[in-house]
Amino acid sequence: MAIDAAFLDELRNRTPLPSLIGRRNKLVRSGRNWKTCCPFHGEKTPSFYIYDDHFHCFGCGVHGDAISYVMQSEGRSFPEAVEQLASEAGLEVPKADPRSEARAREAQSLGDVLNLVQESYRRRLYRPEGREGLAYLRGRGLTEETIERFGLGWSGDGRQLLDELRPHGVTVEMLIRAGVIRVDEQGAPKGELFFNRVTFPIRDRRGRMMSFGARTLGDGQPKYLNGPETALFSKRRTLFNLDLAREAVHRGADLVVVEGYMDVIAMDQAGFGGAVAPLGTAMGEEQLELLWRMSPSPILCLDGDAAGARAALRVCEVSLPLLSPERTIRFCRLDAKDDPDSLIRSRGPRAMQEALSGATSMAEELFGLLTAGLVDPGPDQRAALREKLVALSRLIPDKALASEYRSTLLDMFFARFRRKKNFQRKGGESLRLSTQAPGAMRDVESGNLERLNIMTAMLLHHPDILPEVEQAYSGLHLPSELDHLRSALLDWSCQEEERDALTEEGCMSWLEEHGLADLAGRVKGGPLPRGVGDGKVKDEILKVDVIESWWHFYALVNFQTFERTLEEDVTRAVIEGDMESFVDENGQSGLRFPNALMTRLRVRDALKSGERVGE
Ligand code: UTP
Ligand code: MN
Repeated sequence: MAIDAAFLDELRNRTPLPSLIGRRNKLVRSGRNWKTCCPFHGEKTPSFYIYDDHFHCFGCGVHGDAISYVMQSEGRSFPEAVEQLASEAGLEVPKADPRSEARAREAQSLGDVLNLVQESYRRRLYRPEGREGLAYLRGRGLTEETIERFGLGWSGDGRQLLDELRPHGVTVEMLIRAGVIRVDEQGAPKGELFFNRVTFPIRDRRGRMMSFGARTLGDGQPKYLNGPETALFSKRRTLFNLDLAREAVHRGADLVVVEGYMDVIAMDQAGFGGAVAPLGTAMGEEQLELLWRMSPSPILCLDGDAAGARAALRVCEVSLPLLSPERTIRFCRLDAKDDPDSLIRSRGPRAMQEALSGATSMAEELFGLLTAGLVDPGPDQRAALREKLVALSRLIPDKALASEYRSTLLDMFFARFRRKKNFQRKGGESLRLSTQAPGAMRDVESGNLERLNIMTAMLLHHPDILPEVEQAYSGLHLPSELDHLRSALLDWSCQEEERDALTEEGCMSWLEEHGLADLAGRVKGGPLPRGVGDGKVKDEILKVDVIESWWHFYALVNFQTFERTLEEDVTRAVIEGDMESFVDENGQSGLRFPNALMTRLRVRDALKSGERVGE
């Protein structure tokens, strides 16, 4: 009995051919595809090519997909091969039930109906009723060949489809299910969806009709109408022009995602056959998967305006958790006033080619988006931005790639926002200190200066507490020497991959490399609160003590800021429900703030009741 065609499609989608074939054969790269010595005939040099959804041997001509590969290489029958691949993919083969067969027949008949509608729309474009539509398309610079190639048509006045197709056995219900006739709330037919519009057939990756988009000729709204979701058509799971673009990409074209129908068509006519477009929705995960099946690094070509920037950021957020070394995205931004169609018309294919050649990596795009408009960020902004960059790279599941992104993003950060006032790269790697304007720290009273020295010394002894106090530390006004040390400390700490790597030794050798060992030694040798300096003991209890006394000094230097930010953080923890449950010594349970906040609350209470530590 027949197995549901949609299930077979899903099964093929879930079975990456390279890994299936790679189990028994050593694969080597061939451009964006793989090749190997043909498992079906003896050969010494590889002529067996593996594409995203099929394989082909140029030696013996064997050809097929994942299912036929298992049949041929393991001598299985079709149902056996399907069963095996399904269990490997964690799928269950649907029981061949009459309903799914009915669905398959229905899909086929819906496809037939859409083909009939498409033929009708297409014929109309060349009849007197389609004159205006044809003139519009020509007016937008499309050649006869392009109009043909994309199957562009004319919807007519919206009153004839049913009568025209009835002789072919098409009913009104079929047209409703195909999405070209609308229904009212009771489900009664309400007339054709498209009228007085040029039509753009939407096909799946194998070229089968799924739906239509259609544009008004004038300024009417909506400018474009897309068919509704149907059994055959899901906007989230497809892209316009997948079928033609796929062929072009196989022949070597770049895969480019543009924003609209007319952009795809203009690109194709200008020789960029690998263009696709989402259908009026934001790019989602499923569409990214479709793209990566065709190319490891598709180019996203977005408008250069604010909406384009928002769209780019959203795509980054969706795609970061899906990235791997084989799956990335490049970005190409045009001038604010241009889309690919208008760019090609005004400045020709060369200009488009230049824009594509200038496509930037995901890391560059992310950095650009996050720093747009940021000219001279203060310590708080620097810290927040750095945190954001690190957090974003953490979204990438592949460890090696995540760390690659992290260091690339941080390199960009340092290249762009290095505190020029303090650090200047000169000659090789050494960082030189510049002189600070005399009297800049006049306002630091001597008691506070002592405290700032102590706080810095504590961090030099216990750099592992840096992440917990970083934000407050970055915001302190420091005299120049301590400021140099802080810059170096923060730069070092955010380049270290793991928190465990924040060791005193690691810190000192970094400072030494940057010519700050003497200064650090002097500060470290100054006064310290009891128990801090002799802490080669790196246990948690001691660490908590160190953090607590660091906050104590911080609060003494600037109680107002300390109290204000503490209150803000408490409020945020309450609003976001960031609380921890605990059980006290009497067995009572309750909720309290996370440890880091509790520490600061203790410090505040102690100070308010007049305690002083370690002085
Ligand atoms: P744009 O408004 O950017 O138009 O829509 P465009 O592609 O430049 O169209 P032309 O050049 O004026 O013909 C981009 C895409 O957004 C979807 C369509 O897919 C369109 O191609 N869209 C736009 C809609 O679905 N509905 C609309 O009303 C407008
Ligand atoms: Mn346009």
